[in-house]
Amino acid sequence: MDRPPLRTYGRIKTRTLKPRQAGLIDALLPRLGVPEGPFDPRGLKPDAAEVWLEIGFGGGEHLAAQAARRPDVLAIGVEPFLNGVASALRHIDDAGLANVRIVQGDARDIVGRLLDASLERIFILFPDPWPKTRHHKRRLMQPDFIGDLARVARPGARLGFATDWRDYAAWTLERMAASPDWTWTAQTASDWRAPPPDHVTTRYEQKALGDTAPIFLNFTRA
Ligand SMILES: C[S@@+](CC[C@H](N)C(=O)[O-])C[C@H]1O[C@@H](n2cnc3c(N)ncnc32)[C@H](O)[C@@H]1O
Repeated sequence: MDRPPLRTYGRIKTRTLKPRQAGLIDALLPRLGVPEGPFDPRGLKPDAAEVWLEIGFGGGEHLAAQAARRPDVLAIGVEPFLNGVASALRHIDDAGLANVRIVQGDARDIVGRLLDASLERIFILFPDPWPKTRHHKRRLMQPDFIGDLARVARPGARLGFATDWRDYAAWTLERMAASPDWTWTAQTASDWRAPPPDHVTTRYEQKALGDTAPIFLNFTRA
């Protein structure tokens, strides 16, 4: 039998949920889910101009802001951290967003179940850096996962990765460059120092816990 994949995340719950958050988990989360087993995300919003996936959305501020900005897009967010999911639900409820789907769980599971070439955009913003060498195997950006992301990305799809850990940026660039499926779009240094024009600052980004200013790596699917 296959061994379960190594955990790429830390705790999945910290504080006790406030009553409103617990209510949203009970009432709203089940309405925003995705089907069991393999699925075509366009079935969830057949008129969607594009389908976007945010992996590890944390408190969901970026996900909700992007969904509000682009009501024509279906935005799917996946995050194992329950308090983060509850926070995202609050943003979705407050803004009355009808184009968001939320999955509490591991992105590797969802990506494994998505139809081939079904995404136009993927965000991986400030993933857990696992800075110690002995923990590097827990980093999300492993060659297998990079290949899985290529399978679900349409030709021309965009993948935006950000980190404030110098070594994780180099790690990701090296592995993405080794994949024939992804092209780094940067032409000049400002392309990786400046956020994409529609970037929304994330909570983790604001904390600036890393060892460098944020690095934004943008790729396109060949
Ligand atoms: C450092 S936090 C950044 C959160 C958010 N993107 C931000 O910038 O504020 C990394 C997040 O990725 C989530 N994460 C880690 N591994 C994941 C996985 N396999 N699938 C989905 N989310 C994951 C963690 O639970 C955590 O919330």
